[in-house]
Amino acid sequence: MSKNHHEKIEKSVGLLGIFTVIAISFGTLVQITPLMFMEETKQPIDGLTPYTALQMEGRDIFIREGCTNCHSQMIRPFRAEVERYGHYSVAGESVWEHPFLWGSKRTGPDLARVGNRYSDDWHYAHLMDPRSVVPQSNMPGYPWLDRNVLDGKYTTRKLEIFRGFGVPYTDEDIAGAADSVKGKTEMEALIAYLQSLGTALK
Ligand code: HEC
Repeated sequence: MSKNHHEKIEKSVGLLGIFTVIAISFGTLVQITPLMFMEETKQPIDGLTPYTALQMEGRDIFIREGCTNCHSQMIRPFRAEVERYGHYSVAGESVWEHPFLWGSKRTGPDLARVGNRYSDDWHYAHLMDPRSVVPQSNMPGYPWLDRNVLDGKYTTRKLEIFRGFGVPYTDEDIAGAADSVKGKTEMEALIAYLQSLGTALK
């Protein structure tokens, strides 16, 4: 490009803007496009199992209650994170997440591998009143989850929709979905979901 052309671009905010966007988009495409075609990012890891009906309901409660506003589910491959939370997150753990809940807001700790870290009783006490187990906690309590009972009205539909996204639910999974959650509390569902997080990666 001759000097004149270059000057023209540098002195025109509009042109400079357009070319900047083109340059950045190109960089983005170069980084992102190959990932869409890499098998590794699309294949579930060995041992990954779809959420049970109860865990699925728990996941929706997690979303509804805004837990994602304070908790990420994405361990970055840095030493400080790996030492604190465990093995960094890999793409094959999230292939059946719709939508994924990676997030980036960490008022509280990352939850990507919280499954099996505490007992169900600990989670129960913590969710009823976080300060009963972690005195300095600023997490709110969620005592109503223990009173709300699931009716399973939409559970079948939820699993069907996820099967439509490619999650390998069997006909039996779907047929038994509503009955397997009916009568359980939202608290039980949420704890079942939390206990499943990050446990598939060996
Ligand atoms: C206002 C921010 C906030 C919200 C909203 C929030 N949390 Fe927390 N959470 C925290 C903080 C801070 C901690 C660390 C202190 C503690 O353990 O209570 C924490 C800790 C936790 C832990 C323990 C993690 C560990 O590794 O020790 C779990 C599990 C958890 N939260 C689950 C939830 C769930 C489930 C919800 C939604 C129902 C939720 N949190 C909503 C702030 C929040």
